[in-house]
Amino acid sequence: MKQYSSLPGPIGVFDSGYGGLTILKKIREALPMYDYIYLGDNARAPYGSRSFEVVYHFTLQAVRHLFDQGCHLVILACNTASAKALRTIQQKDLPVLDPGRRVLGVIRPTVEIMGDITHTKHVGVLATEGTISSGSYTMEISKLFGEIKTKGEACPMWVPLVENNEASSPGADYFVKQHIERIMKKDPQIDTLVLACTHYPLLIEKIKQYVPKGVYLLTQGERVANSLLDYMNRHPEIDAKITKKGRCAFQTTESPEKFAENARAFLSFPVKVEQVDIDF
Ligand code: DGL
Repeated sequence: MKQYSSLPGPIGVFDSGYGGLTILKKIREALPMYDYIYLGDNARAPYGSRSFEVVYHFTLQAVRHLFDQGCHLVILACNTASAKALRTIQQKDLPVLDPGRRVLGVIRPTVEIMGDITHTKHVGVLATEGTISSGSYTMEISKLFGEIKTKGEACPMWVPLVENNEASSPGADYFVKQHIERIMKKDPQIDTLVLACTHYPLLIEKIKQYVPKGVYLLTQGERVANSLLDYMNRHPEIDAKITKKGRCAFQTTESPEKFAENARAFLSFPVKVEQVDIDF
């Protein structure tokens, strides 16, 4: 069994690509004192339509890489990875890799506040094919709020629109309108739509144009950040293992230049990026 360093290290934030930067941004605003490493598996993104086995395998590689980098806590800032890999990693892999380290996802924090938000108790989830087909949101919601009825809608074109800088183009309207209309048709009583994919906040201006009046759009970044803040307050033993100089490093499995360029759509400052190989 591999021995990871016991020295304090940064918080690892993982996504299949750029989308998790929307989560990282909110986490750093809420918890600026910690050090972070953001890892984007851009070479193998998108994960959205990949099988359970592949998403699990890639996500585990990312988690092990971040443990190697000294992280004691890793956030899967990707709904698809959280939906398809988190539970297996927590239950099967962590006890073997290092029971003292933690891996958290983005679905639980998003679902936790839903009971306070929906009045009609009808919620719609917009996400990748992988997240929708996993049924993770429906399961989590019914575990916490048995009275809430959930409908899901996979929006396979939304991530490519963002990744290709087409989020504000006229062409994006067609795909945004199509999925909003479809989910509202599945259940017209929906009063809350969850943007359950890290990329979707970048489409929010378009989404707002097609969402019926009175329907609340729930984004994840702040919820995940608040939940992490709360987690750190409840777990001083984990807080003690995180370095606190307010630094953030960026790693990608693809071209660092491309990452730095595309990250501009997600972050308002330039980033220095290192290329890493996690496929071992
Ligand atoms: N980050 C992923 C998510 O939140 C979307 C991108 C992908 O399909 O890889 O589901």
